[in-house]
Parts: sequence; C-alpha cells; structure tokens
Amino acid sequence: MKEPTITLTQEQIDFYHREGYLALDAITTPEEIAFMLDIYDRLFEQKAGREEGNQFDLAGTDEDGKEQSLPQIIMPSKYAPELNDTLYHANALAIARQLLGEEAEFQGEHAIRKPGTQGAATPWHQDEAYWDEDQDYNALSIWMPLQDTSVDMGCMQFIPRSHKQEVQPHHSINNDPRVHGLEIDEVDASQAVACPLPAGGCTIHGSRTYHYTSPNQTGKTRRAYIKIFGVPPRKRTEPRDFYWMKEKATKRQERISAAGKA
Ligand code: NI
Repeated sequence: MKEPTITLTQEQIDFYHREGYLALDAITTPEEIAFMLDIYDRLFEQKAGREEGNQFDLAGTDEDGKEQSLPQIIMPSKYAPELNDTLYHANALAIARQLLGEEAEFQGEHAIRKPGTQGAATPWHQDEAYWDEDQDYNALSIWMPLQDTSVDMGCMQFIPRSHKQEVQPHHSINNDPRVHGLEIDEVDASQAVACPLPAGGCTIHGSRTYHYTSPNQTGKTRRAYIKIFGVPPRKRTEPRDFYWMKEKATKRQERISAAGKA
C-alpha cells in the first residue's frame, strides 16, 4: 500500500463539517493521473462490467447499442486491479478518516464519463437517496477529475450546508423509472457553489450534500473517478421510504438478474 501524503488542516476539517463539502487542489500527482487516464478510457471503450450490470448509462434508458449520455462503471478496480494501489486511494482514505473517524473504511468506487458532446447533466441529488433506506450512514464521496474541469465541462456544484437535511424526496430523471439516475424533487439552486478543479484535484461531499454537474459543453471528454468512504452503517430505528428506488425498472437491473441466473 502507498503511504498518504496529505493531511487536512483544522480549518479544512471545520469547513467540511460546516458547509458539507470541501475542494482540494491535489489529491494525487500528474504522473498518477497520466497512468490512470489510459486505464480509464480502456475500461469505457471495452464497456467493462456491462454484462453483470456494472456498466450502464446513468442518465439514459441504456438499451444495448444506444449512445450513452452519462456512462458509468461501478468498481473500475475490479476490471483493472492496477487501480487498487494508488496514491489517490491512500490519500482519500486518510482524508476520510480525518473527517469521519478512524473506523472509516472504503465502501465503493465508480467512474463517470461525461462525453464532450451529448454529455448530460447529473441533476441535483443526495447520494444517500440511492442507498438502503433501512441503514444509517456516516459517509462521504471523494470526486476526482482526470483533466482540468471547468463549470461548462461538468465540475461539481454544491449547495452549502444542505448536508444537514434529511434525505429529501427524489424521482427518476425525466420521471422515467427506466433511467438509473435520480433527481431531487425540489431544489433552490440560487446559493450553489461551483468547484472547478485541476486534473488530480478533488472535491469531498457528505452523503446528504446536494450536488450537481452541468452538461458538458466543451467538446472534450470529462472523466471523474469517485471513491466512497464511511463508518460501518447501522440499522435505522426510524423507518423511511425510498419509494423512488422501488419503482426502478432499468436495463441494468435486467442484466444483473440475468447474470445471477447464468
Ligand atoms: Ni452523487
């Protein structure tokens, strides 16, 4: 395992807990970004994990052969084990432990590629709206772009202090349950803060922080590599109903089900 090279200042830790997000200029090196870029593009070109439901269009109906508006791969390191031992991972884990406590552990990762043309918005949402309604979480996501990323390319945007909210009602994008992606029902984005980043920078946000990325209007591909960390989830005492997940009917679910039967 690589050794972490980053320690957050108390000011950064306080900012994260107060605002629900934080941006850093560098979580890894240019050399490691160059190394990851080739792997990342290869995985998408091969549609790694598609058969088992780990590659799909986050913002479209995801039929086989259809152009994808927001292609995503869950657990890219499963298809490229050389991604397991990176400085990015070591620093991300160290940061998560500073923010959540020493019991914080790696909970998953994904890659979201936003094509330079037809790259769709990721609508405003809270990540926890995708998770298990029966569990209590204390978790965060670290979002790293593999190229310099402007607002117009689809950098992260946050609503400060929204992380104090409960999980709000969501619906499938376009109200179409065939689409994996979720959108929060009501949002006032007038206070949104955009975080343009250099390649290898990152943002950090809580599982309930409202966030968004715009359509990609640059003609160049935007690549983001996201890692999720949290303390072990606990069974909730208060029930809640994520009805928007129960009505999902995606091609991805069909492939997961077919792979399970094979
Ligand atoms: Ni998200």
